Amino acid sequence: MTTISGNLYGQEPLYDESKVPSYHLPALLESENGKAVKNVKQWENKRRPEILALFSEQVHGKTPAGKIPVIFQLQSMEERALDGTATRKQVRIFFGRDSSRHMDLLLYLPSNAKKPAPVFLGLNFTGNQTIHTDPGILISTRQTNNGNNPGYKDGYATEESRGLRVRRWPVEEILSRGYGVATIYYGDIQPDRPDSFREGVHSLFFKPGQEKPGPGEWGAVGAWAWGLSRALDYLVQDPGVNPDQVAVLGHSRLGKASLWAGAQDPRFAIVISNDSGEGGAAITRRKYGETIKDINTRFPHWFSDNYKQYNNKENELPVDYHQLIALIAPRPVYVASASDDQWADPKGEYLSLVHAGPVYELYGLEPLKAPEPPGLEKPVSTESMGYHLRKGKHDILLYDWSNYMDFADKVFGK
Ligand code: GCU
Repeated sequence: MTTISGNLYGQEPLYDESKVPSYHLPALLESENGKAVKNVKQWENKRRPEILALFSEQVHGKTPAGKIPVIFQLQSMEERALDGTATRKQVRIFFGRDSSRHMDLLLYLPSNAKKPAPVFLGLNFTGNQTIHTDPGILISTRQTNNGNNPGYKDGYATEESRGLRVRRWPVEEILSRGYGVATIYYGDIQPDRPDSFREGVHSLFFKPGQEKPGPGEWGAVGAWAWGLSRALDYLVQDPGVNPDQVAVLGHSRLGKASLWAGAQDPRFAIVISNDSGEGGAAITRRKYGETIKDINTRFPHWFSDNYKQYNNKENELPVDYHQLIALIAPRPVYVASASDDQWADPKGEYLSLVHAGPVYELYGLEPLKAPEPPGLEKPVSTESMGYHLRKGKHDILLYDWSNYMDFADKVFGK
C-alpha cells in the first residue's frame, strides 16, 4: 500500500507549526443543553451518547443497528505451528447465510500459555499470508489493491506474497511475551474502492434497490470497524483467548477503524492507534498535514457523505477527535506517531489524548497532561493513556509493538 501525501488540488499541506490557526475545540464536558457534565453518570447517560451520535451522523455514518448472524467455521488448526511455539487457527467468519460473504481470521496463540491469552487484534492491508512466512497460512483469494506488485498477479496474491509484511507483524516477539495475535485482510470486510459498495458488507444492509450508502449511512472505515467487532464476537468465545483482554490496534486508515471500533464496542479492553492521522487521532481543527478536504477528495468512500460538508470548514464540524478518544474512556488508549509522518500530524495526534483527559479524570484515572508531546522515542504512559513518537516513516514496526506490549503488560498487570 503506497501512502501518498499531498493533496489533489495544488494546495501545499500545512507543515509549519507557527501557521497552525488558533481554534476552539467543541466542549467535552458540556451537554448540548448547555449544562456542565460533572460526573461519570452524567457523562455516560448524557454527554457520551451525544458525542457518539455526532460521530455517527457527521463523520463515520451510522453503523446499521440490524444484527446479521455470524457463523464461525474452523478451516485449519495446528497446535505445533512456528516450531511448536504457537497454536495457529484459521477461522472463516460468515456474515449471514450467503456463503460469499465472509472474512478469514488468522489467530496465533502462545503454546506455553497456562491460561487464556490476551490478544492483539488488527486488520492487515495485504492478506493474512503476508504477515508471516509460515507455509500453513491460507493464501487470500480476494482481489487486492496490489496490482502486479511482487507477490500479486492482476491483484490476486500468489505464493510469493508470503511474509511480505513481516516487518509490520513481529509474531515471534508477540508470542514470546505471552500475547496472541489475530488478523484479517481488511478487503474481506469491505474492498477499499469507491465503487465497491455492492461487494462488501455494506450491501448486506441495503434496502431493495439500494446501491450505495445514503448521506448519514456508514462509509468503509465504519465497515472495517464493524468487522473488528465481528472478529471480537469470535475471539470472546475461543477458549484460548482471554475475552476481557483483547486489544484492538490498527495502522493508518486501519487505525481510524480501530479507534472507531473501540469507541463503539466497549468489549475492546485497550484501543491502539498507530499513525491514524486525519479522521483518526489527529485534531482536525489544526489543519496540519492532511485535511478533511484532502481525505474526502482522495478517499470519498471512507466516511459518511455528510462528512464532505466540512471540507475546508473544520471549525463547523460539531466534534473534534479528542472526543473520539474520550468515547473510549475509561478503557486504556494508546496513540503512536512517526517523526517523518507529518501528513498524519503527530502533534495533533498527541493533543487529542491530552484534551480527552478530563473524561478520564471523571473516572479517577490519570491522563497524559503535558501540553507538548514527548521527544523522539521517549514513550510516556499512565495506566490509562500512552503515547510515543517513533523515529522514521509512516509504518508500524517492532518499536511500536514493543511499546504496545509494555503498555498492555502494565494495564493487564502482567
Ligand atoms: C493516505 C491517507 C491517510 C491514511 C493513509 C493510509 O496517506 O491520506 O489518511 O491514513 O493513506 O491508510 O496509509
